[in-house]
Amino acid sequence: MTLTLIKNMAEKIGQEITIAGWVYNFRSSGKIMFWQIRDGSGFTQAILSATDLKEEQWKLAESITMESSVQITGQVTKHPKKEEYELAVKDFKIFQIAEDYPIAKKDHGIDFLMDNRHLWLRSPSQWAIQRIRNTLILATYDWFRNNDFIKIDSPVLTPSAGENTTELFKVKYFDTEAYLSQTGQLYLEAAIAAHGRVFDFGPTFRAEKSKTRRHLTEFWMMDAEMAFTDLTGNLAIQESLIKFMIKAVLEKNVAELAILERNVTVLQSSLEKPFYRLTHKQAVAKLQELGSDIKDNEDLGGDDETLLTKIYDAPIFVTNYPAAIKAFYMKRNAEDPTRAECADLLAPEGYGEIIGGSQREENYDTLRKRIIEFGLKPEDYDWYLNLRKYGSVPHGGFGFGLERIVTWVCGLSHVRESIPFARTIYRLKP
Ligand code: 4AD
Ligand code: MG
Repeated sequence: MTLTLIKNMAEKIGQEITIAGWVYNFRSSGKIMFWQIRDGSGFTQAILSATDLKEEQWKLAESITMESSVQITGQVTKHPKKEEYELAVKDFKIFQIAEDYPIAKKDHGIDFLMDNRHLWLRSPSQWAIQRIRNTLILATYDWFRNNDFIKIDSPVLTPSAGENTTELFKVKYFDTEAYLSQTGQLYLEAAIAAHGRVFDFGPTFRAEKSKTRRHLTEFWMMDAEMAFTDLTGNLAIQESLIKFMIKAVLEKNVAELAILERNVTVLQSSLEKPFYRLTHKQAVAKLQELGSDIKDNEDLGGDDETLLTKIYDAPIFVTNYPAAIKAFYMKRNAEDPTRAECADLLAPEGYGEIIGGSQREENYDTLRKRIIEFGLKPEDYDWYLNLRKYGSVPHGGFGFGLERIVTWVCGLSHVRESIPFARTIYRLKP
């Protein structure tokens, strides 16, 4: 027998179909029972009537519980006023009668919900978030395919730090030590000499001790890297990609955004205008005006990002951070070598950094000097330095944190809901 997906019921009005799913809610009024069914593709209501069913079937129906799994055959009818479709049940089968479901309609605390994440994923809001995440992933692949990028899978086990050495997860690797990858960037820099424009997309790991609404210890990063680019070209690519991703969600996830009660005004205005551009110096001045105690050469803290981004109605590029607070591989700004030739992209509405990117140092001697200045060992980066010996070119790239983007697009208050199973300093389960 072929099953029909709930989302396709509109095409089957008047016909008899079979669906399979979970009863996420039910109610009865005497001889009529209503089951709310979810099958992953959508939601519908099945109507059971004591007069249409055999007596033992009606008895069985009365034993239904929340989250029981069922298969139902019936005729599709359209709601007289709404664009909703229902099923007049002829026959059904129960796969399993669920035990008392722990997640009820009442408000649960976040710890309870996160402890029950394996079940919480079924709730409408969580369903909506993962569908939007999926759209953002597919849009990323689409954009790169349309723009001549090749996907290069970078390794997860690495011999040295890709970013900040204080945030490394160390693992035993036979007789030596390895680190879980913080970014695929260094490997992509090798691949550009073969393919020109490349990207990766996979899990990355940071032993971040930060307990903020923006930090996970395991998250999905997309790194992109391009040969023969400058920072201006790099930012144009980022803006085009992010706009494409937001547009995809606004087009494909209308129902999901409605479930989340997301006000999409700023998502829409982000499509309609160029992203804002501020130098780090300008951002600091603006922040000081807004009451932050940030000093001239400091990094923007989480609170600064919140404060700054609340006043804009589209993403903001903050460029040319002080070189000392950024990574060793960043090229310096030509006019002011105390500044890195870099940009972070900050999401508006108080969300903050979603992308980190820069021009890379392509000169062998300068890069070697920087590695030493940053307290790293040149021998750990021999292969990376080596790339600067064989046809080194001006190049740059960026990396986005998928969860940060999902959190912003969905309008969530914390990054932990944007990933199916969050990993934070305090959570490794489920
Ligand atoms: O800014 P980051 O550290 O940049 C890099 O790793 C570069 N190598 C990327 C590149 O140029 N190819 O990280 C990139 C993005 C951040 O902007 C943020 O969105 C996300 O990754 N990110 C995190 N997301 C969740 N939890 C964390 N602990 C994160 N750390 C970074
Ligand atoms: Mg960053």
